[in-house]
Amino acid sequence: MNNKMKIVVIGGSGLIGSKVVTNLRQRGHEVVAASPSTGVNTLTGEGLAEALAGAQVVVDVANSPSFEDKPALEFFETSGRNLLAAEKAAGVKHHVALSVVGTDRLLGSGPGSLSGYFRAKMAQENLIKASGIPFTIVHATQFFEFAKNIAQSATDSSSIRLSPVLMQPMVSDDVAAAVADVALGEPMNGMVEIAGPDQIRQDELVRQFLSATGDARKVIADANAGYFGIAVNDQSLVPGANARLGPTHFAEWLSRTTTQKTATEKQSAPASNLSGDAVKVVALLLCGIVFAALSLRNAAADDSSTDKPKAAATTEPKEAKVTPLLSKELMDLPGKEGLMVTVEYPPGSSDPIHRHNAHGFIYVLEGSIVMQVRGGKEVTLTPGQTFYEGPEDVHVVGRNASQTKAAKFVVFFVKDKGAPVLVPAK
Ligand SMILES: NC(=O)c1ccc[n+]([C@@H]2O[C@H](COP(=O)([O-])OP(=O)(O)OC[C@H]3O[C@@H](n4cnc5c(N)ncnc54)[C@H](OP(=O)(O)O)[C@@H]3O)[C@@H](O)[C@H]2O)c1
Repeated sequence: MNNKMKIVVIGGSGLIGSKVVTNLRQRGHEVVAASPSTGVNTLTGEGLAEALAGAQVVVDVANSPSFEDKPALEFFETSGRNLLAAEKAAGVKHHVALSVVGTDRLLGSGPGSLSGYFRAKMAQENLIKASGIPFTIVHATQFFEFAKNIAQSATDSSSIRLSPVLMQPMVSDDVAAAVADVALGEPMNGMVEIAGPDQIRQDELVRQFLSATGDARKVIADANAGYFGIAVNDQSLVPGANARLGPTHFAEWLSRTTTQKTATEKQSAPASNLSGDAVKVVALLLCGIVFAALSLRNAAADDSSTDKPKAAATTEPKEAKVTPLLSKELMDLPGKEGLMVTVEYPPGSSDPIHRHNAHGFIYVLEGSIVMQVRGGKEVTLTPGQTFYEGPEDVHVVGRNASQTKAAKFVVFFVKDKGAPVLVPAK
């Protein structure tokens, strides 16, 4: 392995960024997950100098919140300038950026198409090339996860018209692994292409995705439909002969994704994989969580908003979703039990102040969360990071760090048998 390095991942809370962060941490490096939700903003420059101090490598996998021509161009130009200037000041030795295979072939179409976004990516690449900082630009093909966006972009209520153009998509895990490999290698001062193992036509990709996810809409092949309004041919979206290919096939990912979805749905249904007493315990505990959370939210609404209708507070769509995974009486710790749950925070979700009267061990799976117990320091955690709270702790901050991305974590509790898992606190 290379020597341990400090690596800053800009966009470290995003789809690719969070996986790059986990990958590099697992390989023993000091990794900073940088994004607005962790106080680092490339558009304003906020937090950049602090995050980059002592860093050898910067990986930029941020994305513009808007894909419209003007805001996307402003995002990639302003962010690029701020980031590269901060890297120069910090003496960064390798700048890695993620862009799109065929960016230079997708610049031409007019208003309403996605070509403005690709012009913005091109501007980002040009700034990097002119910066004087050693760099590698990674061009990836479309992510498997992006099939959903393609379907959404081209749909009316019953059918989707898509050009049957060749693609060579890849799964986000393979993108992240390849980007992490590049970050640990020498700067190429050039571009490397990465792609999936198979070519598939755009209409077929979306057809298979819809069929696997139980979506009844029909996909119609239409050579004039283009790619997000951009005129394309069979060379536009596929990489050249030297591309590095990820191992994961689309069919394999589809089956894994749909199996996971089914398993999650089963787990969300009344604790069907737990038996006997465990079912009762988990059901009671969850009632406790939901009841406590709801009563606290309603109490908060009563306190703070006399002019706001109460119904508005109860229809708030930002509550955490708690899913039980496993419950077990701990025979060698009399009176105690272990409980494992996942918690999903929608964007902007925040818990009321509470305590657990339990040992709680948190492990972040996705996104970014902010945690604090009374008297402790507020910390922002990203995938792979952990947090502990003890039976005496009052949990004063528990929230999603991002207003735009969901977050998910596992909690393992060791608690008194049958006691509620969450109680309100002040
Ligand atoms: N979709 C595809 O098929 C495809 C294919 C090839 C390449 N790419 C490229 O892959 C890259 C990553 O895409 P993704 O899907 O992983 O993106 P994503 O999930 O939308 O994540 C975007 C990230 O950018 C961060 N960000 C937004 N504004 C920022 C700012 N002002 N300063 C710093 N960070 C900021 C976000 O932070 P918060 O969470 O705090 O908002 C988030 O961490 C993009 O550059 C895209 O062009 C995409």
